[in-house]
Order: sequence, then structure tokens, then C-alpha cells
Amino acid sequence: MKIFNYKHWVVIAAVIVVLFSSCDDNRNEPGYSYFNDMEASRAYETYSANPNYSDGKTMVGPVEGTVAIHEHAFGFEKTPEDEIKASSIENPLADQFDIEHAKKVYEQYCIICHGDKGNGQGFLYTSKKYPFPPANYLAERAMAKTDGQLFHNVRIGFGVMGAHGPQLSVDDTWQLVNYINHLQDQASK
Ligand code: HEC
Repeated sequence: MKIFNYKHWVVIAAVIVVLFSSCDDNRNEPGYSYFNDMEASRAYETYSANPNYSDGKTMVGPVEGTVAIHEHAFGFEKTPEDEIKASSIENPLADQFDIEHAKKVYEQYCIICHGDKGNGQGFLYTSKKYPFPPANYLAERAMAKTDGQLFHNVRIGFGVMGAHGPQLSVDDTWQLVNYINHLQDQASK
């Protein structure tokens, strides 16, 4: 007795044809989708244009003047005058130096330019890939700066150095200030 008669084979062949029709050599084309309501979302995509908002964007920024939780209002500009104004800001973490964490953050964001000793001889500079001499924390200018000034420099930049505030939490910035002080202490020992 045969298990399949010719009608079965016709159905099996039809199924195989349908299955193979979903294969495609061209990987840049998604091919035909049978039920596309999952892939074609009706919601606006995060970065897409959006006519419902006045600025035409789906991702709405924070309301002007608001400060994120864990941030605090730091309304200073990248000017020498504002650096002086910031000089009196007290370092709230001066007594809570977490050297291990600070070192990790420093190695992540700063060592490439300022070097492991903070003397400005980081790889990006010594390899001549970055042309501006990074500040030497052990030189007079940096030694004379208060924690508030260093905080100002790191968060909104100094001279040709750009702002690092957007990449760093406020706490991590103070820990970096502690770390700069630590490197200065090490050097003067
Ligand atoms: C791409 C290279 C680069 C990186 C990365 C960088 N800096 Fe700088 N930094 C500089 C340069 C260059 C200057 C000097 C700018 C000038 O004199 O115009 C400087 C200046 C400074 C100063 C001012 C010191 C002084 O002598 O007045 C501080 C403080 C500082 N950087 C801290 C940091 C910290 C902390 C980080 C990591 C979060 C960092 N920088 C990352 C290049 C860099």
C-alpha cells in the first residue's frame, strides 16, 4: 500500500515551492512579508519626523530650564570669567574620594590625552594624532586651580579641549577632580 498518492505529492511540491519562494540571494531586500503589521509599526519611530510636534521631531527634548535628576544647575559658560566664578563651588565629594572608580573613569575619558601621570603626555599626543598639547596637571596653572575651576574645565571644556559634561555624571566629574588632585599630590611627593 502506498502512503502518498499523486495528490499528496502535488500538495507537498506546492508547499516546497512556497517555502523556497521565501529564499532570496539578495540580502539587502527584506523580501515579501505576508503579515507586515509587526515590522511596519504605525507608531512614529524615535528619530523620525513627526508633524504633531511644533519642531517636527518625534523625540522631544527636555523642557527648557529643567535639570535632570542627579544633575544640578550649572549655568556657567566656557569663558575665563565664568571659570573664575565657578572657582568657589565646593567639591561635595572631597572627603569621599573613590580612587578605584575615579581611575577607571580617568582611563576611559582622559588618559588618552593627559597621560597616566597627568603630565599631558597621553598617547593621542605623543603619537602625533592629536596636535594640541594637552594640559599638564603638574604645571603651575593647573596646580593653582581650585576644585571648582577644575570642575568647570572638565564639564564645559577649557581652551581647545571640548566639554566632557555630556559624557559624565556630576559625581564622576568630582571624582575626576579628586583624581587630578591625587596625581598632583603623587608628583609633589
Ligand atoms: C582630546 C584630548 C583631550 C581629552 C580626551 C581630555 N583633555 Fe583635558 N585638555 C586637553 C587640552 C588640549 C587642554 C589644554 C587646552 C588649552 O590650553 O587650550 C586640556 C585642558 C584640561 C584642563 C585644564 C588644566 C589647566 O592646566 O588649566 C583640565 C582640568 C582638563 N583638561 C581635564 C580633563 C579631564 C578630567 C578629562 C577627561 C574627562 C580630559 N581633560 C580629557 C585635551 C584633552
